[in-house]
Amino acid sequence: MAATLRMRRNRPMGYNAAVMTGTRSIPAEARERHAQLKAEIERHNQLYYVEAAPEISDRAFDQLMSELEALEAEHPDLVSPDSPTQRVGGEPVEGFETVEHAVPMLSIDNTYNPEELRAFDGRVRRGLPPGETPKYVAELKFDGVAISLQYRDGVFVRAATRGDGTRGDDVTANARTIRSVPLRLLDSPPPLLEARGEVLMRRSELQRINAEREARDEPPLANPRNTTAGTLKLLDPREAAKRRLDIVTYDVAAVEGAAPGSHWRTLEALRECGLPTSGHAEWCEDIEEVLAVCAKWEQKRAELDFETDGMVVKVDAAEHRRHLGATSKAPRWAIAYKFPAQVGRTKLLNIGVQVGKSGALTPVAEMEPVPLAGTIVRRATLHNFEELDRKDVRVGDTIEVQKAGDIIPQVLRPVLELRPPDAQPHALPTACPVCGGEVRKDPEGVFIRCLNVACPAQLKERLEHFASRGAMDIEGMGPALIEQLVDKELVTDIAGVYTLDTKALESLERMGKKSAANLLAALEASKSQPLRRLLFGLGIRHVGSHVARLLASRYGDLDALMAAPAAELAEIHEIGGALAQSVVDFFADPRNRALIEKLRAHGLNFSEPGAGPSDGPDDGDGAQPLAGKTFVVTGALQRHTRDEIHERIKALGGRASGSVSGKTDYLVAGENAGSKRAKAEELGVTILTEDEFEAMAGPGP
Ligand code: IVH
Repeated sequence: MAATLRMRRNRPMGYNAAVMTGTRSIPAEARERHAQLKAEIERHNQLYYVEAAPEISDRAFDQLMSELEALEAEHPDLVSPDSPTQRVGGEPVEGFETVEHAVPMLSIDNTYNPEELRAFDGRVRRGLPPGETPKYVAELKFDGVAISLQYRDGVFVRAATRGDGTRGDDVTANARTIRSVPLRLLDSPPPLLEARGEVLMRRSELQRINAEREARDEPPLANPRNTTAGTLKLLDPREAAKRRLDIVTYDVAAVEGAAPGSHWRTLEALRECGLPTSGHAEWCEDIEEVLAVCAKWEQKRAELDFETDGMVVKVDAAEHRRHLGATSKAPRWAIAYKFPAQVGRTKLLNIGVQVGKSGALTPVAEMEPVPLAGTIVRRATLHNFEELDRKDVRVGDTIEVQKAGDIIPQVLRPVLELRPPDAQPHALPTACPVCGGEVRKDPEGVFIRCLNVACPAQLKERLEHFASRGAMDIEGMGPALIEQLVDKELVTDIAGVYTLDTKALESLERMGKKSAANLLAALEASKSQPLRRLLFGLGIRHVGSHVARLLASRYGDLDALMAAPAAELAEIHEIGGALAQSVVDFFADPRNRALIEKLRAHGLNFSEPGAGPSDGPDDGDGAQPLAGKTFVVTGALQRHTRDEIHERIKALGGRASGSVSGKTDYLVAGENAGSKRAKAEELGVTILTEDEFEAMAGPGP
């Protein structure tokens, strides 16, 4: 993005073609002029907002806009979503639709010093074939909101937030108001292009907004990133249009047609399409050059008109990237280098205690408000009582706080020279601060836990987790509602949410007939969620969404999993002894068994579509768990040849096919999966890694 990029000033907002005249037949000249004007205006928009090199005056631009408006007023049927008149925002919406990302939006691992960055380089080199040397591109890490932009035949059709990486919110209407988002791509665009980037707000724009707010006696907005996130989530696009957001793109997630062979080329291709990219990306021959670029921007970051919390270092060659692959969370070919966090000093007023979903008591520092990296900080976690003890922070101390990754405030240390003589070390809790119940320290760990499973604080956390997007995804069941449900004892365990009825819900604050009906529908719908989500939602210790998926696809239904001994679970790839034991312990607990029976009685789905059940990890005994399923195997696998996998599929009753089609159920993809993977992604075929296939089929005889 050009550093000098500026906003077109004094432009009146209000380009919406509104007047309907009822004219139906449109003369050919009007149609032609309309197309011309649209293209002209978009080109000038581009020159102005993306390239910072306007060719015409604001006045001449306004004249073109007026002509377009007049034409659309005369012929309303000419108005199309890619018309520049539509940038001021359409009608308000009720909420945002959830959309699935064709290619997941991954995050990136972090490094914090040169050694860690060199270690990344070492891993990259070891991951490449002998003799291959990685080249890097170092970019600013924009501190905004990740976004995915979809163009079909060159027309902007969809913008989605990252959400949980797999599914995000459709924020198209608001993104359309961002002037640097082209509504139509230049030149000969591919049939499909999905670009990834970051929506951000310039510091100068936040200042402009805050000056206006101050004039209206409204409190200022704290920082550009939160304002960006808030703006994208405004229900009224006309309001979003008033806050001028910006965008920078840095990746192509999907493209129909030839994909660029390198990241550098990708950035060029994005620019050629008219999408704004960072003007600050730098080509680096080796990691030492990367380090020099990082050091430079660490010094210069304050000069930028937008916030950056570090650099992103990316392997350039697409071939190298394919070779390196990704974990379930982040690519192995990219790393973030985080700039050191800002440190602030303040006074510790109190040490509060929070109770988590598994009963863990967490000390929380309550401080005199201190400004830090763009926000005012009042509370910071102290993680656990061992850490509190190690840091020896005491109420009354002056403490140093920082924002880890510029987001989560952390207490660093007490300033001992300033300690008041009477400051006392914090005593360990002897009872749960919420329910007064008995507490005990984990024999093997650092946490002190409340032992009362009915503790309202724990229950609230468990319910929040159960209802969350990655788990049962019960829309409308947020913290405020859960707070009331638990405090009014309408719900005393997870299964209790399925006993709620209209009468109970309507007795709650801020709950109208419509919200109650929506919530009941969401609860009903959640009953058919696949087993992996239920397993994750149960909040079994160590069982995150990835492990839940492994277990669900390996066993196929909950009863089979509940019957599995720890030794058998531990044989599953990626599942260690401690994890296996935690699962077995959970299901051995009579209270949890009772909970499962209640959930069964409410009609929850206990099975995983398309998975097991099979008899054991090495079931070479004729079980046909893959019966009726069609697989395609592609790419370079690590532990098996393709033929071995084919044999395994057939032995378990499945069908192995050579090409991906609408009939394919699963693609088992190794490294360099290429076009078959792209096709599978396009068709929404489930893609399995070799490990996931093994978890599903067992490692084989
Ligand atoms: S590349 C698969 N490049 O940082 C990785 N990300 O912590 C694709 N971000 O989710 C991301 N600036 O929202 C990339 N120049 C940049 C970035 C950038 C900011 C964000 C992005 C990502 C997050 C990862």
